[in-house]
Amino acid sequence: MSQSVKKVVIPVAGLGTRGLPFTKEVPKELLPIIDTPTIHFIAEEVLAAGIEQVIFITSKGKHALEDYFDLSPNLENWLRKRGKEALADKVRQIGTFCEVISVRQKEPLGLGHAVYCARNIIGQEKFAVCLGDEIFPPWDKINQTQAPLRKLVDAAIELDTSTVGVVEIPIADSLSYGILDLGGKSLGENPAPVLRTVEKPKPEVAPSPYAIIGRYVFDSTLFDALKETKPGVGGEIQLTDAMDKLCANRKLHGVLLKGCRYDIGNPMFYMKAQIDAALRRPELSQRLRDYMKSL
Ligand code: G1P
Repeated sequence: MSQSVKKVVIPVAGLGTRGLPFTKEVPKELLPIIDTPTIHFIAEEVLAAGIEQVIFITSKGKHALEDYFDLSPNLENWLRKRGKEALADKVRQIGTFCEVISVRQKEPLGLGHAVYCARNIIGQEKFAVCLGDEIFPPWDKINQTQAPLRKLVDAAIELDTSTVGVVEIPIADSLSYGILDLGGKSLGENPAPVLRTVEKPKPEVAPSPYAIIGRYVFDSTLFDALKETKPGVGGEIQLTDAMDKLCANRKLHGVLLKGCRYDIGNPMFYMKAQIDAALRRPELSQRLRDYMKSL
């Protein structure tokens, strides 16, 4: 039984069309919540899960993400010379957050293909996957008690299985998500074996309201499943279709995540994230409330 998860795969090669025109030249994972890029929140969640190595699956024009997690000696020295020690420390801390490895996805063949690109770096270990457009803010009490990825890692190790994080959605939204079939059962505190996974089903055939939200822990058998996976929804090699193959051996468990989450690719979620973050900043909170009242 694998005792720990030390690597996370973060696919960042996508074109980010939901975020255009911002994403024309800038990776969507750098969209900030006030002054903190979404990828920063994800890195904090990854660290809280005890993971030390980040494998970015990249494409052309994504180097700013690698740079973000690099040291910036000029900037740091400039800040220190001017006595801005706290900011300099923060810049250094981000540069030492984690070890970053980059692998190119040379063709946009889908999320499943992106994860498959990491197979030689992962080898036989259990590993996590995080999608960059979902964040679980650290100011939420439930997320503080147990970071979502930590919950998935703990369950995967305890049950020696693969795990997938889900939230309950209105069934009308099923076309935007991968959905779990739990044989009609509700998901409570404990992880439950998944019978089937379906990518973006129509609401009338969605097997449950439990939607995949971009947090996963897999063992290396996923790569065997991905190797056999043919293009599915949208003509892309879907991660959800490969996961479906793990279900046959009851080797995939769903884990309900209850903390606050934002889908940054959705403008309404994004605005809520900005407001919720601002309301927690002492220097912004009262002025924002006054402004909202004045509208
Ligand atoms: C991807 C996955 C889907 C998952 C979703 C979560 O879809 O394919 O299963 O529910 O992320 O954000 P995408 O949003 O890339 O279309």
